[in-house]
Amino acid sequence: MDKILLWSLLLIFSGSQASRPLAQRNIEFAVDLYQAICLSHKNNIIFSPLGTTLGLGMVQLGAKGKAQQQIRQTLKLQETSAGEEFSVLKSFFSAISEKKQEFTFNLANALYLQEGFTVKEQYLHSNKEFFQSAIKLVDFQDAKTSAETISTWVESKTDGKIKDMFSGEDFGPLTRLILVNAVYFKGDWKQKFTKENTQLMNFTKKDGAAVKIPMMKALVRTKYGYFSGSSMNYQVLELPYKGDEFSLIIVLPAEDVNIEEMEKQITAHQILKWFSEMQEEEVEVSLPRFQVEQKLDFKEALYSLNITEIFSGGCDLSGITDSAEVFISQVMQHVFFEINEDGSEAATSAGVCSVDAQGQKISSVHPSMHIPVIMSLAQNQFIANHPFLFIVKNNPTESILFMGRVTNPDTQKMKGRDLDSL
Ligand SMILES: *[C@@H]1O[C@H](CO)[C@@H](O)[C@H](O)[C@H]1NC(C)=O
Ligand SMILES: *[C@@H]1O[C@H](CO)[C@@H](O)[C@H](O)[C@H]1NC(C)=O
Repeated sequence: MDKILLWSLLLIFSGSQASRPLAQRNIEFAVDLYQAICLSHKNNIIFSPLGTTLGLGMVQLGAKGKAQQQIRQTLKLQETSAGEEFSVLKSFFSAISEKKQEFTFNLANALYLQEGFTVKEQYLHSNKEFFQSAIKLVDFQDAKTSAETISTWVESKTDGKIKDMFSGEDFGPLTRLILVNAVYFKGDWKQKFTKENTQLMNFTKKDGAAVKIPMMKALVRTKYGYFSGSSMNYQVLELPYKGDEFSLIIVLPAEDVNIEEMEKQITAHQILKWFSEMQEEEVEVSLPRFQVEQKLDFKEALYSLNITEIFSGGCDLSGITDSAEVFISQVMQHVFFEINEDGSEAATSAGVCSVDAQGQKISSVHPSMHIPVIMSLAQNQFIANHPFLFIVKNNPTESILFMGRVTNPDTQKMKGRDLDSL
């Protein structure tokens, strides 16, 4: 609790000192990244802004000149000492990781460097201090063994959720440095959905076609808001996880609003406004049970956000090692995120990886039991039966753990175990 207090104080302090508080700058980066990803992805999206921020934070700690400037500019870091802003995050996250009983949250970063290069003492030291992470040496020339080594590390950091993240083919003779970050989150809803209330319903995809999906239903008292901007209306709903440390925020455009139009207008300022203006209300919620899984190549998105230098030979990573041959080969992130009646489970890994979705026990609901279970007089209806955005945020820091959109709940994956059970 002391650390949370410390964090809040620092947040206020940095806010008064700087033009914008850290939380806002972090959200600005999340929005930039989201919009960059949207340019090349038409369907479901999921990624971890926080994981990316911390990974890039580690790199900039050892970068100099243009390589460092580009990252600091894109992450909107202030002119404080290189790792200071992250050390605040670090102490916060180590404080919450002690509260394991309410949820599981692991955030781990590592840089894997080709054996034979010497890592500077100072870098090892500050990385440990600010990011609690180590730089590890592997022999990328022995691609298979190094893939296994890194995969094993990721698997151990994500509760076995992300397996076989790398394969031998991911590394080539020029692989020198790989950024790996693993984020794992599993939480139960503060107020669970009742499985018996889940019904098959139509979800209208972006192209107008309907798909049948399992729709969870509940009448909840929670933070809710109805917003409008530039001739478009949308609803925002917050569903807290047990412990109130994390929440899922869902942004649902009105049915006549194209989600892509709405996305273009999202700003960090707007997001913070939702957080502060939502009010406790009684809401009848219909939310699909869904899974989103995605492997993203961040290189392209980061390029479009002006982070280019670290990907090319001759870049200055001399804070890490003296060799001019070292540059970042890839920044891939693979996230698996699931929402069900109990809560959600998410695992991320930056690098190149694949995820094994763990089956959840789903109690069966017979088709003939499709009785309307909610017969409330609630004024607010939140029916997520068309594309929506979502954010998983850490409440005390307002850091965005995950961000994405659902344009089509993944019916392919659900077929076997989910749809059959309805
Ligand atoms: C659901 O979608 C199907 C296919 O488009 C349509 O035939 C059906 O009428 C829809 N059902 C409802 C309840 O809207
Ligand atoms: C990237 O750099 C260009 C040229 O310096 C600038 O015009 C543009 O606004 C920058 N983009 C971002 C996202 O910072």
